[in-house]
Amino acid sequence: MKRAQIVGIGAYAPQRVLTNSELEKLIDTTDEWIVQRTGIRERHIVDDNEGPADLALRAARQALDRAGVGPEEIDLIVVGTTAGDMLFPTTANLLQHRLGCRNAGSMDVYAACSGSVYSLSVGAQYIQTGKYETVLCVGAECLSRITDFTDRGTCILLADAAGAAVLRPADGEAGIIDTDLYSDGRYGELLMLPAGGSRYPATHETVDKRMHFAKMKGNEVFKVAVRMFGDCAQRILERNGFKPTDIDLFVPHQANLRIIEAAVKRLGLPMERVIVNVERYGNTGAASVYVALEEAWATKRLRAGDLVLLAAFGGGFTWGAALLRW
Ligand code: UT7
Repeated sequence: MKRAQIVGIGAYAPQRVLTNSELEKLIDTTDEWIVQRTGIRERHIVDDNEGPADLALRAARQALDRAGVGPEEIDLIVVGTTAGDMLFPTTANLLQHRLGCRNAGSMDVYAACSGSVYSLSVGAQYIQTGKYETVLCVGAECLSRITDFTDRGTCILLADAAGAAVLRPADGEAGIIDTDLYSDGRYGELLMLPAGGSRYPATHETVDKRMHFAKMKGNEVFKVAVRMFGDCAQRILERNGFKPTDIDLFVPHQANLRIIEAAVKRLGLPMERVIVNVERYGNTGAASVYVALEEAWATKRLRAGDLVLLAAFGGGFTWGAALLRW
């Protein structure tokens, strides 16, 4: 089987920046508390007329330009998202049309904040099996739309962005070596968006009970996340004959600086080999790993031949990792 290789990467965050000091005016919190407990200083928030497909379009165009690939060459679009533009058409379908990918199938992958690793893994399988030549993988979120700005446990964290990667068959050693996906529905109620699907469609009652906003038991999510993050990273490395110290660059889901630091400590990696941008973006769900990877590429921290580990976790619970040679 051929490896799938990332041949172009892009990212986009909306113009509007929401700082911790602005949040101090909305809820009972302080910049100091948010920075100490999460590492976040500011995040990007969409305008009223924007949705995930708008952010995805900009990130995807950048990725295609950098790859030198035209939209009609795309065979498949896989979008990871927590709350797409609408239940259907999918965000991938909206993107397919607006990008002009006339020859592409398209699908959304719903795995909450693990949507980055999930979408990349799904896309990679189609390249590895030889079914498709060019796949566009995307993570796109407008989490601010499902955020209750009266809930200080979530509104300090969640934010908006998109990232994209173009995959093609590798012609050398570079490419995705392996991916792993996991889930455990026992933890579903720790982090959920209760209403808006077909179980609890919108009614006056669901709106009054604020059921269209993400609910999170943050402290419990924190503990599970640290364990799962570390375990899946360790497992994918072992299976492929690597030690944690072989990793040149670790690109984790950007949910909370303390979660990243705890996971990195478990792996025994120095922080210099970890990409962290949560202080400027907050938690952008399925977009976060793509956005961080793009930043690593754009700032030249990612070099040819590097062994790169991606890992994410999110509501569900879902989690997973991808190991690649850049
Ligand atoms: O993408 C995947 C999903 N999400 C995550 O990974 C998030 C995981 N969880 C977290 O990041 C953290 O649990 C939070 C940042 C959400 C909360 O931090 P924590 O250190 O776990 O705080 P806590 O929930 O244990 O709360 C400690 C105290 C509480 O007050 P009392 O009961 O000790 O008086 C909270 O009410 O901090 C209070 N608190 C706040 N205070 C100021 C909670 N949120 C805030 C806030 N500002 N924004």
